[in-house]
This record gives sequence, C-alpha cells and structure tokens, in this order.
Amino acid sequence: MKIRAAACIACTLAAMALAADPKATPEEARKFIHDAEQKLLLLGVDSARADWIKSTYITDDTEAIAAKLDEKAIAATVAYAKQATRFDGLKLDAETARKLKLLKLSLTIATPADARESEELTRIVTGMEGTYGKGKYCPSGPASCRDLEELSKILAESRDPKALRDAWTGWHAISKPIRQDFVRYVDLANKGARQLGFKDNGAMWRSKYDMAPDDFSKELDRLWDQVKPLYLSLHAYVRNRLHEKYGDAVPPGGAIPADLLGNMWAQDWDNIYPLIAPANADPGYDVTALLKKRNTDWKQMVKYGEGFFTSLGLAPLPETFWERSLFLKPKDRDVVCHASAWDIDTLNDVRLKMCIQITGEDFLTVHHELGHNFYQRAYSKLPPSFRDSANDGFHEAVGDTIALSITPEYLVKIGLLDRAPDTSKDIGLLLHKALEKIAFLPFGLVIDQWRWKVFSGEIPPEKYNQAWWQLRQKYQGIAPPDPEGAPRGEADFDPGAKYHVAANVPYMRYFLADILQFQFHRALSQAAGCTGPLNRCSIYGNKEAGAKLNAMLEMGQSRPWQEALEKIAGTRQMDATAIRDYFAPLQKWLDEQNQGKPLGW
Ligand code: ASP
Ligand code: SER
Ligand code: ZN
Repeated sequence: MKIRAAACIACTLAAMALAADPKATPEEARKFIHDAEQKLLLLGVDSARADWIKSTYITDDTEAIAAKLDEKAIAATVAYAKQATRFDGLKLDAETARKLKLLKLSLTIATPADARESEELTRIVTGMEGTYGKGKYCPSGPASCRDLEELSKILAESRDPKALRDAWTGWHAISKPIRQDFVRYVDLANKGARQLGFKDNGAMWRSKYDMAPDDFSKELDRLWDQVKPLYLSLHAYVRNRLHEKYGDAVPPGGAIPADLLGNMWAQDWDNIYPLIAPANADPGYDVTALLKKRNTDWKQMVKYGEGFFTSLGLAPLPETFWERSLFLKPKDRDVVCHASAWDIDTLNDVRLKMCIQITGEDFLTVHHELGHNFYQRAYSKLPPSFRDSANDGFHEAVGDTIALSITPEYLVKIGLLDRAPDTSKDIGLLLHKALEKIAFLPFGLVIDQWRWKVFSGEIPPEKYNQAWWQLRQKYQGIAPPDPEGAPRGEADFDPGAKYHVAANVPYMRYFLADILQFQFHRALSQAAGCTGPLNRCSIYGNKEAGAKLNAMLEMGQSRPWQEALEKIAGTRQMDATAIRDYFAPLQKWLDEQNQGKPLGW
C-alpha cells in the first residue's frame, strides 16, 4: 500500500445539497482553496512525520503523538470541507472546481465534530494498527513467540497440515483484542462521515471514483463477471491437486481450507506452485533461489526495482530515500512491517518502509512499492490538491505493471537467470502468475464487501465473523481451516488479522489495480512494439513506453481518472479483456485439466 501523508485533503459533501452563499464569489473560492492547500500541506507533513516514527518504533508515546497530529490534520480538513459548501453551485473555473471537489473527497476517515469523540477515533485507529504491528503468536511462553514474517514462512513452505493450522490459528488470535475497538471505530467513523453528508463511512469510500457511488458498485460487478470464469477454472484445478495431496480435508466439490493455499489470508497462492506445477511445462527456476544464489542483499533488491524505472527514462530516487527509509526489520523494537511507500512532504521526501526478505515475493513487493514512490515524484510538481493518483487503484497498479515486465528474458538481462525457458514452458509461467493475480481477484473484492456492509449496519457486530466467512466462501470458495472441535466464532475477529482492516486502509483499490495493471501492461507493451504473447513482453529499457507511462503519472489527480486511463490505454473504461487475453492459453489448458471434475462449490 501507499501512505498518503501530507495534505490529507478531503471528504464528501457531494451528497449534501447545500445552497451556495449568495455573497460568495469565484475570487473568494480561489483564495479559499489556495489557503486550505497551504495550511493542510503543513499539517499533513507534521502528521506524516509522526506517523513515520510511530510505524518504525511502536510505543505508547509514539502512538499518542501520532494520533494527536493525525487528528489535527483530519479535523482541519473536515472543517475546510464544511466551509467549502458555501461555494456549492457557484460557477467556477475548472481547476478551482476540481480542487474543491477533491477537498471533500479524499479523507479515508472523518473525525466527528465532538472533540472527545474526535480524539477517541484517531486514538483507536492508531492503536489498532499498533496492535497488529506488535502481533505475535506465543504458544508456550515469551521465548516461543513468532511474528507474522515467521508464521507466513510456515504458511508458505510447510506441507504439514498440523503446522499450517497452528500457524494460521496462532496469527488469527492477535485480532481478538481489536474487536471491541473496531465496533467503536465503526460508530465514530460513521458519525464523522455522516456529518460530512455521507450515508456512512463505506459510502464515503465509494464516492471517490468520478462516478455515482452506485454506478461504481455496478462497475465492480461487471468486472467480476468478466473474470469469474477464469477464477473458477483456477480454483477447480488447484482444489483437485490439493485433494490429491491432502485427501478429504479438501473436498472435491467444496471450499478449500484457507490454511492450505500458501498465504496467511489465502489472497495469493503462488507459494504452493511447486505442489501443482504442470509436469511438462515447468519453467524450472524459482526467483527466491536465483536471488539467494547470487547473494542478493536488500539494497540490491531495491536497486533492481529502481533500475527498472530509470531504464524507462524516469529520474533516480533521491539520496534521502536511501538515508531515511526502513529496509530491514529491526531486532530490538516493534515496527509495522507491512510494506508501504511514503511521501512525507509530497515533494522529494519519498521513503520505503519494508522488512525486506530475500524472496521472489518481496522482489515483486519492492517493485510494487517503488511504483508508488515514482508516481509520487511524477505528480509532485502539481498544486497540492492534485498530488495523488487518478484513483487509488491507479496508485496500486503502477508498480505491479512494472512487475509484469519481469519476464524470464528480463531476468537474463539483469544477470539473475542464465537462460530463458522456451515457449513450451509458458503454461507453467502463466499458472504461476495466475496463482498471484487470478487467485487475488475475489479476495480484492471481499474485504470491502464485508466492510461496506459493516459500515452500513447490514452486518452487526454479533455477526462480524460469521458474515466474514460467508463472504469468503461466496467469492473465494474457501473455508476456515479444519476446526478440530473449535470452529471459528464471534469471539474471533478474523477480518482484523488482515492489515488493511486493522489500519483503516480501503481495499477495493487492489481489485481495481489487478484489472488495471493488465490494461496498462498491454498498452505499454504495444507502445514498446512487443507483438509476442503478453506474458513474454517486457518494457524494460523502452523509452516510448516510459514516456507513455510518465505522461499518465504526471497528471496526478488533476483530471478525472477516465482521462488518465485514456492517456495510457486509449480507453475510458476499466476493462478485463486485457487480463483475460493474458491468461487465455492458461484458461484453455485449465479447462482441459478440469474435464469431468466439478466447478465451483
Ligand atoms: N504492496 C502491498 C500492499 O499494497 C504490501 C504487501 O503486500 O507487502 O498492501
Ligand atoms: N499489498 C496488498 C496486500 O497486502 C495487496 O496485495 O494485501
Ligand atoms: Zn500498495
């Protein structure tokens, strides 16, 4: 994810049909938004610095200070957004009108007007993220404690059902204490959103897409319908292979237990690739092993990422990036290890916060995070209001687009791989990618399907966990691990064991990014003159593709996202045909493998 630091500009009054003040003038509106931008920028920098220290050194004090400065920045934004209603309906130049609109739209949380409630809300949000960051599973006393990185390694590598279940259950216990706070957070966040004219906090999140919130929900349904056949085929194939491996723990026509898919949240499944690799089409290399063989260290990992962006013609990262980032997990203190890219002053002070491990997965995550940082630098020349991505899915898609260019041929070019496998291995390559990108699609949907219903009250606190697993089953076709007499219940709070839920980060952006990155990749590959299959196209070193990408990045959010999409992909619609094109040969292969076997659950 990316942390939007400075200038938390935003919130929605769009729904509030307040009449303009008859005395308000366009000149006043321009001055108002200019002043707001300057003031919020300063408050944003203060809160970003405090957040940085808190995230890289979790203590009661750093949490308290960060909560206080976040509160100040958010409350100021809310106040400006409320004042801005006096310009509603006034005829304004396009730039001022867009800035005023964005002012009302970019908060992910709005503090209520009551001072005590405002303080309580920011304290709760900071505290939940801290609890997640400090989370450990200690089966038998302090010496036995394991953190998320260690538990994730078990999920990724172990094939022992007992060890998997234990690691899964151990991690999912860290969020039990978050539950009470979460209930209160939902109440207060809704209150803040309502005071800004939204129906609830979920409605506020859905209003950020340059289209009516209901139309946005319809777009999501349309995109999901486009990709669902691919997911069903992948799910059925994986289930068959896991059934062969684990027996009836994986029922042939049912949901797959969540702890058997190689990832703590079953959100991407590439770690179980070795279990399901096609016999004749395995490309025969593993990026983790390649990195280890060359003794790659954290710095080289980041340099590979930076090198890709500069090969496209973008400027290298500033010296301060290397001085101020957190690259490794400190041994002596708690930090929030969940990777993120920061933009402290929205100018040059970009940073990475990550506990880098030398794995293929983290190799991709580095590219993902640097995508945020290069986007941030590209739009830093715009007025403060426009220093963000076209929509939040764009921000999440940029680094992933670059990572789609990490082809075998590219790995050869940078000296990690000796020889690229020929096209007879493409099914293996595609299957590996599908475990990452296709497996993720329903997960990308599910988190906010759950949260939107929680914010609207359709899912009440006494059904949090039950509803969570119903949605996980419905979209992903996965089930909680075999309970061994202890089924998941309402004492558990399984959604809170996912970072973005505990930390109030919207999630639909990742679903959008999963679709968009293939649109971007297809368009940039064309610009680079690649005519081969999409999974073999790499834009590395191609200045035409770089210029096309940069033209979109430099727009920031100065124009509706549809225009940014048009700039890079020549269309104004999000479109899943690119991801379907990319995986078309795999879909055909999967359907052959699945013949005579049940589809769905
Ligand atoms: N890039 C991821 C995200 O956006 C971070 C991660 O998976 O490590 O949340
Ligand atoms: N980075 C996001 C996550 O961790 C999406 O992959 O969930
Ligand atoms: Zn991200």
